[in-house]
Amino acid sequence: MKGVVLAGGTGSRLFPLTKITNKHLLPIYNKPMIYYPIETLVNAGIQDIMIVTGGKNSGDFLRLLSNGKQFGLKHLDYTYQEGEGGIADALSLAEHFADGGKVCVILGDNIIEKNIRRAADEFRQQPCGAKILLKEVPDAERFGVAEIATGRVVNIEEKPKKPKSNYAVTGIYFYDGTVFDKARTLKPSSRGELEITDVNNAYIREGAMTYDFLEGWWTDAGTFDSLRRATNLVAEKGANKNGGDDRS
Ligand code: DAU
Repeated sequence: MKGVVLAGGTGSRLFPLTKITNKHLLPIYNKPMIYYPIETLVNAGIQDIMIVTGGKNSGDFLRLLSNGKQFGLKHLDYTYQEGEGGIADALSLAEHFADGGKVCVILGDNIIEKNIRRAADEFRQQPCGAKILLKEVPDAERFGVAEIATGRVVNIEEKPKKPKSNYAVTGIYFYDGTVFDKARTLKPSSRGELEITDVNNAYIREGAMTYDFLEGWWTDAGTFDSLRRATNLVAEKGANKNGGDDRS
């Protein structure tokens, strides 16, 4: 299974921090934000990784990450999203890289405490379809929210005013090779983006979506509050761990 890190978009909610750099290059405690999703993929045994970036500072990703050697990778792939057409638009650019196989997609601003090895292994065994990772949160209206009935996800609503559950859909997704066909059928949402939630609902309609709960804490880092929260959580994790490895 290959991995895709989505690091395009404008980071408008972090302006002016993102006026002269890409959101995913901002620091989270002692590393640039993009390091964390890459490490999440590597810790799940994923060795082939593509970074989808965009904007005026895309060249900085190459200077920062080069060939991926610091993550133990043999090489890294890169591609460029023109504009900010949404998460599903960014993912579409990885079609050639995926080459019909399974992919694990992670949003470049999603940071987790533990690892996704169990879910990755389960999805490697899953014959086809998709898998999402959920997390119970107090502010579900900020996220895609999963409605669960009789042990299945029956619908996902993107940033609902009145969430039907407290289960946020985290920005870590597993897809089979049909994801790119599904992305091609999407129409822009009211915020003018191709929504990953619409891709996920297409899998749900096919009865091909499984889910798991993410262990440990999870945060995005796309607003001032979540950026600070991410930094604090990562710093506390480092302090608690006394310099152990990242694969606990
Ligand atoms: O963090 C999880 C949430 O991420 C999910 O619960 C939501 O369902 C999903 O829509 C997404 O919500 P956000 O509104 O927080 O996504 P945002 O626009 O902040 O984009 C998240 C990342 O996706 C961003 O760090 C980079 C990537 N991205 C986003 C856009 C809009 C791209 O690569 N290209 C894009 O055009």
